[in-house]
Formats: sequence, C-alpha cells, structure tokens
Amino acid sequence: MNAPASPQTIRLADYTVPSYLVDNVDLHFDLDASTTQVTSILNMRRNPKGPGEDCVLNGEHLQLVSIKLDGRLLTAAEFQRSNTQLILPQLPEKFQLEIVTEIHPDQNTALEGLYHSGTLVCTQCEAEGFRRITYYPDRPDVMAVFTVTITADKQQWPILLSNGNLQEQGELEDGRHWVRWHDPHPKPCYLFALVAGDLYMQQDSFTTISGRDVTLQIYVDKENHDKCDHALMSLKQSMRWDEEAYGREYDLDVFMIVAVNDFNMGAMENKGLNIFNAACVLASPQTATDNDFYTIQSIVGHEYFHNWSGNRVTCRDWFQLSLKEGFTVMRDQSFSADLNSAAVQRIDDVDQLRSLQFAEDAGPMAHPVRPDSYIEISNFYTVTIYEKGAEVVRMIKTLLGDEGFRKGTDLYFDRHDGQAVTTDDFVKAMEEANHYDLTQFKRWYTQAGTPVITAFYNYDAIKKIFTLTLQQSCPATPGQTEKQPFLIPVAMGLLDSAGNSLPLQLIDEAQPYDKDTRVLELNESEQTFRFIGVEQKPIVSLLRGFSAPVKLLIERDNEELAFLMANEKDSFNRWDAGQSLFIQIMLSLIADYQQNTALQLPEILVKQCAAVLQDKAADPALVARMLTLPSENYLAAQMKVADVDAIHHVRKFVKDSLAMQLKAQFDALYQQHNLPNVAYQFNSEHMGRRSLKNVCLGYLMATNDPMQTQRCLKQMKQADNMTDTLAGLRLMVDQAGIEREHALRAFYEQWQHDRQVVDKWLTVQALSSLPDTLIRIKGLMKHPAFSIKNPNNVRALIGQFCRNNPALFHAKDGSGYRFLAEQILVLDKLNPQVASRQLGAFNSWRRYDEKRQQMMREALQSIAQQQDLSSDVYEIVNKYLA
Ligand code: PHE
Ligand code: ZN
Repeated sequence: MNAPASPQTIRLADYTVPSYLVDNVDLHFDLDASTTQVTSILNMRRNPKGPGEDCVLNGEHLQLVSIKLDGRLLTAAEFQRSNTQLILPQLPEKFQLEIVTEIHPDQNTALEGLYHSGTLVCTQCEAEGFRRITYYPDRPDVMAVFTVTITADKQQWPILLSNGNLQEQGELEDGRHWVRWHDPHPKPCYLFALVAGDLYMQQDSFTTISGRDVTLQIYVDKENHDKCDHALMSLKQSMRWDEEAYGREYDLDVFMIVAVNDFNMGAMENKGLNIFNAACVLASPQTATDNDFYTIQSIVGHEYFHNWSGNRVTCRDWFQLSLKEGFTVMRDQSFSADLNSAAVQRIDDVDQLRSLQFAEDAGPMAHPVRPDSYIEISNFYTVTIYEKGAEVVRMIKTLLGDEGFRKGTDLYFDRHDGQAVTTDDFVKAMEEANHYDLTQFKRWYTQAGTPVITAFYNYDAIKKIFTLTLQQSCPATPGQTEKQPFLIPVAMGLLDSAGNSLPLQLIDEAQPYDKDTRVLELNESEQTFRFIGVEQKPIVSLLRGFSAPVKLLIERDNEELAFLMANEKDSFNRWDAGQSLFIQIMLSLIADYQQNTALQLPEILVKQCAAVLQDKAADPALVARMLTLPSENYLAAQMKVADVDAIHHVRKFVKDSLAMQLKAQFDALYQQHNLPNVAYQFNSEHMGRRSLKNVCLGYLMATNDPMQTQRCLKQMKQADNMTDTLAGLRLMVDQAGIEREHALRAFYEQWQHDRQVVDKWLTVQALSSLPDTLIRIKGLMKHPAFSIKNPNNVRALIGQFCRNNPALFHAKDGSGYRFLAEQILVLDKLNPQVASRQLGAFNSWRRYDEKRQQMMREALQSIAQQQDLSSDVYEIVNKYLA
C-alpha cells in the first residue's frame, strides 16, 4: 500500500465518462458486527465511449480477501492496489468480477459505509460511502441493477432490509437466516442501502393514481413504537402531492423508512429504503415540538420526492449535486407551503437562506450552485447547494410561470428517466419546453456570491411617470473576481398612500398591465423602468415573495418601512419591512451604544409593534414572526465589523423595552392563545397560536416580573405537548436561580429515556445566556446523556453553542474558540464529516474585531497544524485561512 497522499482537488473540467460500466451487481453480505464479509459479483463491460484501458475501482478501509476474473482467482501480480483504488489492467470487453472483502461495522465511527448504531447495522453511501463496503466504480454515472443477499443471525437481526422488492428468504441451520432483495431500477451505488436490526415495524398502504397498491413501512427501535404516525401520514401526503403537483407516481411495491440514532445528516433517499436520522422521523406530541412535526413532514417529503428528482433521474457527477438537491428542496418547500401556510413557509425559508446561505456566500467557502472544484465532496452538502439551489429553480418557475415550469419538469423527467445528468440538462429541458432562452440565467449556477440590487426612483407628478432604476452588482468570491450580470426576476408593485395598488403599465406598452404584481427581468448592470399613468406618488414594493436570492438596497426612512409593514399586499414583504425596520433601528442604537450615548427606543417601533399586536384579523403565526427580532448573527452580518457585545446589548435592550411598554398587550394575547384545556393538535391554526403565545411569553419573561416566571413554570407543568414545555424551559434557563435548576432537573428526570428530548435538554443549556454556560457544557460532555460519537448529541450541545450563542462563543477571553478547536480535533479522529461541519462556526471569522480575529486565527491554525487531518477538515480549515 502507498502512503496516504495529501488531499487532491477534483475538478469539473476533468470529468470523463466511465471506462467501464456495470450492468448488474450481486451483493452477498455475511453479516457480523465485528467482521462482515462482502462478496460482490459484478457483470461489467467496457464503455465504448470511455477514455481508459484500465478498470479503476474505488475502495477505502477494505480488507481484500480475493478477486476472481471470469471465475479465475487473480494473483497479486495481476492487479494494483492502493489505499483508495484497485486497478485491473487488460480486461476483455465483457467480464465478470467476483470480489470478496471484509469490513468492520463496529469500528466505523465515521458513519459512512456499513456501520453499527445501537443494536442495528445500517449503511450510508452518499456521496462516497459505498467504496467502504466493496471495490466498485463509485461514481453516480455508473448505474446498475442490484440484487442483495443478506445472511445474519436471526435472533440478533430478525429484520434484514435492502432496496427494491423482497424476492426470497430462508432459514439456515446455525440460527442464521437469509433474505434476497432485488431492485429492478438501475441505480448508482450511492443509493444502495442495507439495514439489519431487531425493530418495531408500523405498516400502512397507499394506492397510487394508477391504482397500484404500495406497502408503506416504518421501522424504529421498539421503544419508539408510538412515534410513527406522523411520518407515515407525511409519507402518504407526499406520495399524493407528487402525483398531483408533478405527475410522478411511485414505482416499487414497497416503500420503507428506517429510523437510526447515529446519522451524519438528516435523512437519505436510498431507493425504496429511506434511512432517517431518528430525530427527523419520530414524533409524538409529548416529545416533539411543532417545529419537529413541521420539519419531519418536510424531510419525509424531501426524501420521497428524491425518488424522481435524484433516483429516477440522478446526477452525472457530484458537481451536479444541486440538480437533485436544489430541485428537491424547492419541491419540498412547495409541498410544505401547500399543506400549511404558504406565507409562513416563505418567511421561514427566506429567513434561513439569508441568515445561513448569505453568510456562506460572503465567506471563504463561497462556491457556485454548481461548483468547479472540491477536495472533499462531503463538504459541499451546503446551504448554497440546497437552499440557494432551490431559489434558482424557483426563479426559473417565476420566469416561466407555473404551467411553463410544469411543462419543463415533464420534459425533464421524460427525457432523462434512468439517466445521470447535469444541471445544464435540467435547464435545457426548461428552455425547450418553453422556447425560452436561459443562457444568461445559467450564471446563477456558475457565479458565487449574493448579488446586490440597488434601487433608485423618481416620480414626475406632472407627467404621472414613475421611474425605477435598478443596478446590480455581485461581490468577488474566492476564485471569482469579476462577475457578469445575472438575469434577476424582480417581482414588484406600486402602492398609493392608502395602500391600494397602482397600475403597472410600462411606457412602451399599449395596454395597461392587468395584475397588481409584475415581474421585471433585470439582466443588465443598470436598467430603468418607466411606469405611466401613475396618478400619485407611489411607494414601490420590490422583490415580492423574495423573487430572487439577492440583497436589496433601497433607502427608506422608518416611516416608509412602517407603512409597508402595515399596508403592503404581499405578506412576505410586510414581514420583511418589519425586519428592515428592526434592523435599521438596532443598527442606529448600536452606533449610539458604541459612542456611549444613552439608548432610546424610537416611538415608531413601539407603535408598529402595538399595531401588530392589536391586529385581530392577522394570522397568529405571521404575528409571531413579525414580533421576532432579527438574530444576533444576522445583525452581525449587517455590520462592517461585527460588534458582538453591542449587538447583544442592543438586542436585549430593544426586547426588554418593547416588553415593558407593551406588557399589557403581550399579556392579553398570551391569554387569548393559551388553551390549556385543548388537546394538542398538529395543524396550522394551533401551531400558529402556540408560536404566538410563546413569543408573548418570551417578552413577558423579559419584564423580570416574578409573576411571569410563575406563569412560565405553570405552562411547563400543564402542557400536554413538548412545544409548550420546551418554550417554558428555554426561558427558564436564562434566569439564574434555584427555579432554573429545578426545572432542568425535573425535565431530565422525566425524559432521560428519550434521546430526542434529551438532545433538546442539551440544547437549551447550550443556548443559555448565563455566563457559566461554557463551563456547564464541558460538564455536560461528561454526563451519561452525552456521547461524542453521536452526531445528534454533538450538534445539540457543541454545535448549538458555537453557532447560536454568539455572545458567549465569541467571549472576549477566546474560551469559546479554544473549546471548538479542541473538539474539532477530537471529532476529526472519530467522524470527519461531523468535525468539518462544526468548523462552520468559524465561517465569518474575518468579520469580527482585530482581537477576536487574532484568537480565531490561532484556533484555526492549531487545527491546520495537526498531522493526518481528514480531507474534510483539511479543506475547510485551509480555505478559511487562505
Ligand atoms: N441526500 C440526502 C438528502 O438531502 C442528504 C445526505 C447526504 C444524507 C449525504 C447522507 C449523506 O436528502
Ligand atoms: Zn436531498
């Protein structure tokens, strides 16, 4: 074997088609937790279009037992092997390989390939985990028909699952049994899955649009038998929705979901056998919050939708990852919008995009939706690939209209069914189905960075002409200094002083425009739009529904923002105006704070919030979001140099002041929406009411009135659901004192048997604003509730602290930074993917003051200096320091 090579950069420009193809593969697993033997029989042939002579198979962490070529055992001289590859020279046109390898599931802490989790054994193969199971051309453009035979101890693993349909099963003499699964749909190996366990199964069925019956099964640890209903219901909703919205029907006799406690990501769309992080599938009202219920519905949908956008049509190479992920996120967002509140869904999606993806696009890891290069593909499962990718598809839909978009997706699925394709193929289907040129639009796939639109306007009262000038630019990102203009759909409208819509006829148009919103296509660096027949000076509303993932710069005073917050037709923009008002006011208070000027909350903010609180007709979920202040992280991103302490202080000041001045209104609203005698239901109305009630409780607790603490404790005690219990606990942990300790202890005692709830208990402590939080976190890492090998534990405690507790993570003494650096080095030895994700907390390190930058640089350097870093951490840390 060769010495480990230093991590190599992989480039899209170097893509070549595979030299050899696999027609079908027969896998035999002789399952054992310590040593599993894998026999792989590959029927392969040379690709006539392929570039090479040698057959190169990927393989990592494998013990090779034997290789046979057309039945003949090969000697060591007949092949070459390194740490990552098996190379076979001089092969016939068509041949059969039989490769036997051994692997060790119980030593696999990276959770890639075949691994042990609790009492079950399962696989995770995306992106490049299959090569840890056997030697194989591990690339998504090699698609094969899989037949999988599993042999295992029957008592230990009564349930043996793989992709496709169950073909045969039988008993063996020594207490073992076997099953054979066959998946008729050719697939890349990243979609292969295997599960063996002693699990509870809940079953249901679904009749597809053409009348085929599909068996649905959810497999979970036995103690979670009562937490499957919601996921099953979500699955049926997803199956129906994809038929109705996209004309896509399910294509196997069975669809299975398995819940696993140790999982690097949220869930995985393996063909017919989705594997889920237990936290993303298990739910009961007592243990899961509204947020959990909501997320589970959307993730179940997401993975199910991959059956078409990902599996039937897959990616040619990993540079095309957003082909399946961006599109599928866009699909799951529409699904959630259709099943719940479209307005709330949009607000939450944009909020997440702006706080996470914009930060990524402004930092050292900024990359295009279709990247040009990577070192470790696992590092590219990013908010850019997923969330910005979804926005890009959404913009295509905005440009083509709903019907045109559907024509495009029909053509795409039809044309490419069974193929591994590129984002260009996706765009081409859209273009051809609509006779629409998206050449310029494709820059969204190739240029990184968040475009900035600056808007100027002018009203000519005599000619009744409103002139709108839009300029666009895009900041430089690593490797891309110059950017070409994007094609940006700008949905907009004009309002009169009473909030009514004004006409939107452009100067060269003969007819008046017949809608209140129109989509301007901005495709130059500067463009002017003249609207005629505008009878009074309008207020312009831009980017309705957030029609493009851009930053909008438009000068508005507080009064105009307040007007939009109250009168704008588009609910997203109403919310957004409110957020802009908060931000504008807070930034100016931050400046006051920095100059030691006494802080004073502008009257207009109190007035506006009071109006929101009094709006009887408003949807409580929207009111809750209107009253939620921008996060400290988001405020930090709005400053040239993020001032951690000023932000923390000012945000608290604004919250406390609003709480004091509007206490009576918060109190009334709390009482109106607190329904202690109504049993928990997961639906938009109840969810909205709970969220508003708990926002009110948050403000009430900020008044420091001991009565409110009692109310909070009472809510926790009376609640029949985790949403209200956890909202109470979260507020309690910010108040030092004996009540806090009691609440935490009681919560743990009640829920210590439940992993998902214990993770919430870890998170509330990680997010506490009390000064001893980091010390407590270190204590919790020694608590039996925590294991550094469990990714959910790591994310709940370490991840939440570093990402969502900025005031303490960025503590002046550098303790937060040193803590994270130490944890990353420990994690990198166990699970490189989790380690490199945690590094993300340093993404914006150059935006802080000199002293903090210096300390973060030292923390990053302490990581970079380590020998034998994983390629995952190596890539991120070096890009951050570059
Ligand atoms: N493909 C999965 C999803 O988005 C994510 C994933 C990637 C899961 C890699 C595991 C490993 O739906
Ligand atoms: Zn996905």
